[in-house]
Amino acid sequence: MTEAAERAINQADVLVGGRRHLDMYKHLAVDKYPVTADMAPLIDIIKAHVAAGKHVVVLASGDPGFYGILATLKRRLPGLRPEVVPGVSSFQLGCARLGIAWEDACLTSCHGRDPAVLVAAVKKHAKVITLTDPHNTPPALARVLLDGAIGDLTVHVACNLSYPDETLTTTTLKQLAAEEKWISSNCIMVIINEN
Ligand SMILES: C[S@@+](CC[C@H](N)C(=O)[O-])C[C@H]1O[C@@H](n2cnc3c(N)ncnc32)[C@H](O)[C@@H]1O
Repeated sequence: MTEAAERAINQADVLVGGRRHLDMYKHLAVDKYPVTADMAPLIDIIKAHVAAGKHVVVLASGDPGFYGILATLKRRLPGLRPEVVPGVSSFQLGCARLGIAWEDACLTSCHGRDPAVLVAAVKKHAKVITLTDPHNTPPALARVLLDGAIGDLTVHVACNLSYPDETLTTTTLKQLAAEEKWISSNCIMVIINEN
């Protein structure tokens, strides 16, 4: 959490965000609206509050311009000129924790997306970093890669970054694929293809 983000949140009349994020600000006596799968009602709420001159703050993890809510808000609210207050992206923090440079990495996302993009990226690039989601878990993605004729590569998995239950795991795709359960749904994977 950056100081700039804390400042913006403390000046908010209205907070919008995932439940995990809103729960961090239970102590603030402002209107709060959770982001759900159906964005339409939320877009109307944001529009109405902005039109009434309210200071609406949308909470998001990492950098909202990086596989975050910014693109959706810009598309759904074309006249909107948001002030973007970036945090530290999960890619940035994960790579820092793992001591891995990421300037040469192919950055992609399997968060609500078809993991076929990951197979194609790993075939083409020596270092690929991806976001995961509760369905596309690290073991599930390892299985997709092995089924896509990718060999047994080294993979780093960084989960719950910056939270007390943060974990860092370095393993191989085969070992990861054999995991039946993966507790955290908030992870990034760094796949190294040196072949
Ligand atoms: C909608 S994307 C948002 C990405 C975000 N804009 C960023 O810059 O990191 C959500 C995904 O980001 C990753 N993520 C978010 N917070 C994380 C954390 N604390 N630790 C590890 N991965 C995280 C997970 O892959 C999660 O499914």
